[in-house]
Amino acid sequence: LKIFIPRDAGAIAVGADEVALELELCARKRGVSLEVVRTGSRGLYWLEPMLEVSTGAGRIAFGPLTPGDVGSVLDAIAADGPHPLRLGLTEQIPWLKRQTRLTFARCGVIDPRSVEDYRVHGGYEGLERALALTSEAIIDDVIKSGLRGRGGAGFPTGIKWRTVAQANAVQKYICCNADEGDSGTFADRMVMEGDPYMVIEGMTIAGIAVGATRGYIYIRSEYPHAVEAINAAIAGARRAGYLGPGIGRSRHDFDIEVRVGAGAYICGEETAMLESIEGKRGVVRAKPPLPAHKGLFGQPTVINNVLSFAAIPFILAGGAQAYADCGMGRSRGTKPIQLGGNIKHGGLFEVAFGITLGELVDDIGGGTASGRPVRAVQVGGPLGAYFPRELFDTPFDYEAFAARSGLVGHGGVVVFDDTVDMAKQARFAMQFCAIESCGKCTPCRIGSQRGVETIDKIINGDRASQNIALLEDLCQTMKLGSLCALGGFVPYPVLSALKHFPEDFGLAPPRLQ
Ligand code: NAI
Ligand code: SF4
Repeated sequence: LKIFIPRDAGAIAVGADEVALELELCARKRGVSLEVVRTGSRGLYWLEPMLEVSTGAGRIAFGPLTPGDVGSVLDAIAADGPHPLRLGLTEQIPWLKRQTRLTFARCGVIDPRSVEDYRVHGGYEGLERALALTSEAIIDDVIKSGLRGRGGAGFPTGIKWRTVAQANAVQKYICCNADEGDSGTFADRMVMEGDPYMVIEGMTIAGIAVGATRGYIYIRSEYPHAVEAINAAIAGARRAGYLGPGIGRSRHDFDIEVRVGAGAYICGEETAMLESIEGKRGVVRAKPPLPAHKGLFGQPTVINNVLSFAAIPFILAGGAQAYADCGMGRSRGTKPIQLGGNIKHGGLFEVAFGITLGELVDDIGGGTASGRPVRAVQVGGPLGAYFPRELFDTPFDYEAFAARSGLVGHGGVVVFDDTVDMAKQARFAMQFCAIESCGKCTPCRIGSQRGVETIDKIINGDRASQNIALLEDLCQTMKLGSLCALGGFVPYPVLSALKHFPEDFGLAPPRLQ
């Protein structure tokens, strides 16, 4: 009997290890011979721990399980009979079936510790093809796919690679930003734990394309399972000849090291991350020069998010056009969207750009977990705008969100019900900025402190209209005067809360424009 149980941190947090242990014990008692494969998660977190069993018709899922359910599930499997936790064929679960899984296709399917399993499922096809192409041809493929930076800013990945490829330097670097600091996001973690070879393959292709021989993955310390999975995959790739000197029996050398962050949000900002990798305090560098010209140790450096690198193997394996065929406007391909907060069906949903916020929250997410009405949704992490129900027709698209003063960002969607106090949320945004500020520039370092105090005055009804004008002015200064996105984007949550939920600030509707 072949059974699959995730070793993903989210599944472990709700008891996947205990379920796996009980499974071994029950099977031994019953004299059943068992092969247990610890996979990544499929991303249906409200059904974790989810167990899957291999059958002639495909994998059949059961969940969410407790160790106490394991015996009866084994009996149901043996009898091919019903069980209250039987979910049917995994691929037919509607939540999974509605997705377009290009990046997450193997996540929850393969054994993340096995390079053979990765290869059996199409892994390293992109690298094999890239090894036969010129640098320009690889970059042309990435440009053709329309891939834009999945960390949040959406800069075209192929253009960034071309800048580094054209830079003249003896040493170039590839850096993977896995400091996933946005609240409500976990796609980087899921992919590193569930399909780590894909990230390594994407980075290796980038190395070949731009002429870099060294890569670093900067992973936040809060992700110990991801660190372990990536380190194991690096060792596996070296053994298989896919990292190190002469990768894939070619003339290209490329190797990767992991660096673990120490818990500062700002180290997810690309230049602060470079400082941290270099062993210094994580403080933002002024741009220009861009990292593409002068990055790690002063050398030309490609910095991409985990999901950007993870999209590359599919694109290079001949999927550039298929990737570009998904999406809307200038937002091409798929977006791994993370549904979280007060939501009934929380998890990872990969879909082509263009799906509306309302579909995601009401239809796919099933509304709130509390059963109360949805009042606000924050998209794009702690620096993203709050959207009220009236804006639920906004399609997931970089430009459509920007047109409504919002951010797609890294694709985190956090849902709040009607008990949320939006003035407190606005205060939280300023306070977050005050705590996480690297201190380099005044609008952010001082502005965020003054922002907290001003919101407190508004909440306390102290000269509210005067202080609201002051807050709007302060936000404008932070937006225009901050050196990086932390201070520059904190006005999004603050001003959206004020605009769409003025009643929480003691103002009477009609709403501010
Ligand atoms: P940015 O717009 O300054 O730059 C985007 C990227 O394009 C950078 O890598 C930059 O170096 C590169 N770039 C810009 N012009 C270029 C050129 N001409 N040639 C080559 N490369 C060029 O944005 P930034 O400040 O790097 O990122 C802000 C974003 O980060 C926000 O949109 C936010 O959504 C996201 N973010 C993501 C987090 C996460 O956890 N993933 C956390 C916090 C923010
Ligand atoms: Fe540092 Fe804030 Fe300025 Fe960014 S905006 S450089 S985090 S002080």
